[in-house]
Amino acid sequence: MNLDEILGMLSNYTQRNYAQARSMPPEFYTSEEVFKLEQERLFRSQWVCLGRIQQIPNPGDYFTTNLIDEPLIVVRTNANEIKVLSNVCRHRGSVIADGSGNSNVFVCPYHSWTYSLNGELRHAPLIDKRTDFDRNRCRLPTFSIEVWGGFIYVNLDGTAPSLAAQLGGLSKIIEHYHMDEMIERHAEESIWDCNWKCLAENFMEGYHLSTVHRETLHDITPTRLSKHFPAGEGYFGFYSVFPDDLPQRGEYHPDLTTEERNRSVMFAVPPLHVAGVAGHKVGYLYLRPETVSTVRVKRGIAVLDSEISDVDLKNITDTFERTMAEDSTQLSRVFRGLKSRYLDTAPLGPINYEGNVHDFYHYLAGKLL
Ligand code: FES
Ligand SMILES: [Fe+2]
Repeated sequence: MNLDEILGMLSNYTQRNYAQARSMPPEFYTSEEVFKLEQERLFRSQWVCLGRIQQIPNPGDYFTTNLIDEPLIVVRTNANEIKVLSNVCRHRGSVIADGSGNSNVFVCPYHSWTYSLNGELRHAPLIDKRTDFDRNRCRLPTFSIEVWGGFIYVNLDGTAPSLAAQLGGLSKIIEHYHMDEMIERHAEESIWDCNWKCLAENFMEGYHLSTVHRETLHDITPTRLSKHFPAGEGYFGFYSVFPDDLPQRGEYHPDLTTEERNRSVMFAVPPLHVAGVAGHKVGYLYLRPETVSTVRVKRGIAVLDSEISDVDLKNITDTFERTMAEDSTQLSRVFRGLKSRYLDTAPLGPINYEGNVHDFYHYLAGKLL
């Protein structure tokens, strides 16, 4: 199946109503051509989440990251603004900073070109005196950023419309959780053997909760209580409702209604950010597709309750990591299956269980067609 045929099916399937919704063919997940198109139309031109604002609370705090081979520095400047700079030296292209930390300047390790926190070139040893040397033409490029819910998003090509405007409906759904005040207490990353879209779909459907997560999540958020909510321009999601007899789980913000206390809100800010917020915590994944068949999964948990005990934190983290391991194992099985020549498409389950897969196709059709 070539690119045109795959996109033709995406167009056809997303014009149907949900009663006729079907899964996309395996080539949608295994095609190098689709992956190339996604890099340009999605990863470079849409909002991609890089981390939490509390990772860089003070001027000079920074962390480095990568998005489709673009090394980036996320930094809080002396003016207390968050900026995303290219982490590539203007001289002869070395990556400048590593890891995270606090600094007044960024010094390239190769020949010590030195940049301010805003990306201006401050010093270029021995070259400064060249008459044709214009340091203003050697500043590090900066990229568009937006902060939403305590998350920092970047748009590499600067063409994406305002993220906050796209997420207006979602902001209302989750406002009582005060996610922007939650502090990251767990961070992990690993590479999963599947196409990135398999992972986004998996996180966003409740159909597998009672099977893949029989031991970990079924008693808390069983498949049968999943409830789809309508997608908005820049998001989609579902409620993962707790059984009536479940005891209170941890602390809650007093703003939360009884209904809100008794469910998780699972949401995606596509293309590469999925999360679940419940009570006083949010768990999230930043997807970093590395190849068509591998995705780096950066993930974390942030909590509102600064007094949370080590035991409670460990319980939350252990459950999260166990479910991630269950998903990773299952998704590698899916991706092995997707390489078969004899796999066709199939009907999707009822909207409350698999509706978000169809929502995701809609989002992708809007960007790729
Ligand atoms: S490459 Fe950075 S100073 Fe030469
Ligand atoms: Fe899962």
